Amino acid sequence: MDHTEQQRLGAPEPVALRQAPLGGQANSGAAQRLLEAQVPYYAEQAGEVALFEHAHRQCLPLLIKGPTGCGKTRFVEHMAARLGRPLITVSCHDDLSAADLVGRHLIGPEGTVWADGPLARAVRTGAICYLDEVVEARKDTTVVLHPLADDRRVLPIERTGEQLVAPPGFMLVISYNPGYQNLLKSLKPSTRQRFIALNFGYPAPAVEQAILQTEAGVDAALAARLVKLAEALRRLTDHDVEETASTRLLVMAARLVASGVPLLPACQAAIVNALTDDADTAAALDEVVRAVIGHGG
Ligand SMILES: Nc1ncnc2c1ncn2[C@@H]1O[C@H](COP(=O)(O)OP(=O)(O)OP(=O)(O)O)[C@@H](O)[C@H]1O
Ligand SMILES: [Mg+2]
Repeated sequence: MDHTEQQRLGAPEPVALRQAPLGGQANSGAAQRLLEAQVPYYAEQAGEVALFEHAHRQCLPLLIKGPTGCGKTRFVEHMAARLGRPLITVSCHDDLSAADLVGRHLIGPEGTVWADGPLARAVRTGAICYLDEVVEARKDTTVVLHPLADDRRVLPIERTGEQLVAPPGFMLVISYNPGYQNLLKSLKPSTRQRFIALNFGYPAPAVEQAILQTEAGVDAALAARLVKLAEALRRLTDHDVEETASTRLLVMAARLVASGVPLLPACQAAIVNALTDDADTAAALDEVVRAVIGHGG
């Protein structure tokens, strides 16, 4: 199959531990540390962690919108681990068919066997199913989500006649980047109105600084400089880049610096050259980099 799929099977922890909220009184210090070690780091932007937990509890599907590299995938990974659910991720593309999601019959040595697709597997196992860049998928594909995303919570499998009922742990999460969106690629209203929606942007400066320190292991002063640079780059609107400097690019620049690359070439490689192919635009971005971090970098 064409889609990429990651499945993180729930670690074999005691159920009580898996269901206890982080910081809950029920956990011993050691168990708490064990749990935290298994949860991918995620710095919250604005109440989205609690919102996700409520949505999960209420069996509501979630749409996350936001620019590239702002933490959408990390957020979903964090929440799946935090809630103790397996995570099944599908990167959507324009060739993705309903069968790729739901499943198909395969011919093997024993004859024809049914093979669940990632969506059916997620429903059966009560996983969190994350469909990334969902607007890329063909519209007939997204329609298979409808009975699953509304109060019916079922996945009909036409070819086998099965009707899978989603258990309470199952949650559907979809995301896309509205920046790339065109009219042809927007979600049908009947699809989007089945989801509650969260708008992500780049994190506030203090949060982004903490992310750089944690993700790249750089000190507060360097992280603060890179965040200043990002703020200056994000203020530029009049240039030929599709999207501005993301948190992801800042993390990459910080990791280069942590590894011993001087700040200026690290920013040029991880930020300026990554943002554009156009020589004039690169020169303009480079000027901002030099102005903010200084020539000595
Ligand atoms: N809030 C956050 N907490 C921790 N790390 C973050 C956060 N936001 C961004 N990052 C860092 O930025 C990187 C990119 O984030 P992520 O892959 O989640 O972006 P995304 O929004 O899914 O982007 P895309 O739309 O391109 O898939 C992460 O690997 C992580 O290092
Ligand atoms: Mg992503």
